[in-house]
Amino acid sequence: ISLKPYNTFGIDVMAEQFAGFESQAELVYILEQAKTTTPTLVLGGGSNILLTKDVQGLVLKNEIKGIKILEETDDYVLVQAGAGEIWHPFVRKCIEKNYSGIENLSLIPGCVGASPMQNIGAYGVEIKDIFYSLDAYHLQDKRVDTIKKEDCNFGYRESAFKRKWKGEYIILNVTYKLSKHPQFHVEYGAIKEELEKMQIDNLSIKAISDAIINIRSSKLPDPKIIGNAGSFFKNPTIEKTQFEKLKSVFPHIKGFTIEGNIDKIKVAAGWLIEQAGWKGFREKDYGVHKNQALVLVNYGSATGAQVFDLSTRIIHSIEDKFGITLEREVNIL
Ligand code: FAD
Ligand code: EPU
Repeated sequence: ISLKPYNTFGIDVMAEQFAGFESQAELVYILEQAKTTTPTLVLGGGSNILLTKDVQGLVLKNEIKGIKILEETDDYVLVQAGAGEIWHPFVRKCIEKNYSGIENLSLIPGCVGASPMQNIGAYGVEIKDIFYSLDAYHLQDKRVDTIKKEDCNFGYRESAFKRKWKGEYIILNVTYKLSKHPQFHVEYGAIKEELEKMQIDNLSIKAISDAIINIRSSKLPDPKIIGNAGSFFKNPTIEKTQFEKLKSVFPHIKGFTIEGNIDKIKVAAGWLIEQAGWKGFREKDYGVHKNQALVLVNYGSATGAQVFDLSTRIIHSIEDKFGITLEREVNIL
């Protein structure tokens, strides 16, 4: 079948075999029928992948649903969600119950099961801040492991699932620890300005969520309209000395200090790409989004290979101009 409806880039490639599963039992059954312990790809919402060719072997789509409270005290709740729950509606359900910590991650596409994969983050919060544990099926050993936060090696857009455990586990559900006493995170970017524009007097987690939805909608393309997978590259971390040198040549360069590391600076890749002249670039049906240069787009019939080639051209161009090597954030298959 065509995977076009299953990836937000809207890339039209074929999967040799495709199956969805709604439970662990269904997953085990499908793997047995297919006589494999190595599916080629496990999909949630397909919002963080670029498919560059037809996929041989088995593609699985995680559709495990369900949300439940595992534990509740006066201070916090442990909320467990099936890996196939869609992220944003889950976030809004938590907000309705006044469970806080997750509100800054509003409107991120995709499913619960992928949230720990790259430790999703936005507007000053990352999954690691609210992650408690997850249950995952180990494909080779055919058992379910409960994995705690300490073992996930979370970093900026990183986790053990992308590194040492790559391809080993299928995540079945994720448990988050959310607070009943909200601590508002409004320092990042334009949140405060947006709240002012919205004329919010009493700050709440719902107001923060609404503000972030407004900001995101104003600059990120809606995948239903223009194919994309969010930021295509990571924001690169460089030595502070290199940053100072660059700043003397490019006084407006945007960089941010990193918690716990005074020698490094995280540079805004979107700014670098914009300065190198790529913002709004279009050739055939592939290009760079006009409002956010970190986002590569498919206007309709682009192939994954074309988008990948464009990303290589951008990497070379940023190396030439700034001496910084960008790393892709999107999973390439
Ligand atoms: P998929 O694309 O389906 O999968 C991503 C990877 O995880 C693949 O390698 C896949 O094999 C693996 N995977 C998925 N589910 C499972 C599972 N159950 N078990 C094992 N492996 C699995 N990301 C951010 O961090 N912050 C943002 O602000 C952000 N904004 C975005 C904005 C837009 C417009 C778009 C399109 C994307 C954005 N993203 C952002 C990227 C993306 O939404 C996240 O990475 C999201 O978590 C991906 O979820 P998914 O279910 O679509 O994953
Ligand atoms: N900028 C430009 N030009 C651009 C884009 C950005 O100059 O075309 C500048 C902005 O003016 C700003 C800075 O770069 O000063 C940062 O921009 P923004 O706040 O839009 O965030 P980002 O660094 O581009 C990151 C994440 C996003 C996340 C936002 C908000 C990465 C790779 N991306 O983007 O995550 O939503 O911050 O926290 O870290 C994703 O991972 O897919 C994603 C969208």
